[in-house]
This record gives sequence, C-alpha cells and structure tokens, in this order.
Amino acid sequence: MSTKIDIGIDEKDRKAIAEGLSKLLADSYTLYLMTHNFHWNVTGPMFNTLHLMFMTQYTEQWAALDLIAERIRALGEPAPATYKEYSKLTSIDEVSGVPKAMEMVKLLVKAQEATSKTARKLFPLVEKAGDQPTADLLTQRQNIHEKTAWMLRSLLQD
Ligand SMILES: [Fe+2]
Repeated sequence: MSTKIDIGIDEKDRKAIAEGLSKLLADSYTLYLMTHNFHWNVTGPMFNTLHLMFMTQYTEQWAALDLIAERIRALGEPAPATYKEYSKLTSIDEVSGVPKAMEMVKLLVKAQEATSKTARKLFPLVEKAGDQPTADLLTQRQNIHEKTAWMLRSLLQD
C-alpha cells in the first residue's frame, strides 16, 4: 500500500505551508507560555481580573497548539516541538523578569498581534494551493488573536 500523500496539494506547497504553520506554532507556544507566566506572576489591585483572564486565554491557546501541530502532520511534515526550535522560529521576544501588571497587558497585546500577523502572512500561499483546512485554521486563529488583542487593549484605555 502506498503511503504517498495524495490530497491534491503538491509537495512543494505542502512543505512551504508546513513551514509557515511551524512559525505559527512557535508564536502560539511562546504566547501560550507568556500568558501562563503572567497568570502565575501578576500582582497588584487587578490581580483577580488578570489572573482569571490570563487563564481563559492560555487554556484556549493550549488547545490550539494541538490543532496547528496536527495540521502540519496531515501535510506530511514533522511538527517542531522543542524550545530550541521555537526560539528560532518565533517572532515574539521572550520576557525577562516580572513586568508590572499593565506592562504584562501591553506585552500580551503585542504578542497576540504578532501571532495574528504570522498567520495572515501565510494566507496567500494557502489560498493559492487550495488548502481549505489550513485556511480555516488560520482564519480561526486570526479571529481569536485579534479579539483577544482588543480585550487586552481595552484594559489600557480609560
Ligand atoms: Fe492557575
């Protein structure tokens, strides 16, 4: 029995899409860890609100990692899954130390926006290749990252 992938997307496109998805996975993992970090380390009068808000966010992000990684597998490529690879692939800077609560919110807005931009950059290739499942995944990720960025941004306004 042939194990060749025959889904109507040629190998070159499958590899290029998997590469783009690997960048999205790296951003998503880095954002996930940043959000969990802030859930643990946030302090100040907004503690309860932010602690719970960050938990809602990292829980959703954790589930998304699996969807992105398994789409990479369905396209025939290995999913990156080490900190070393993620730190090379991500567009998000790692946080050092413990920022103040509102600085955490600012950093998360930037990281949410960065993740959405990484997903958006891949879209033209995915459309060209007729890869609807990846297009659907990218659309869902952009939607949630942009909505979450808006919610976080709202905390910074009067
Ligand atoms: Fe917790």
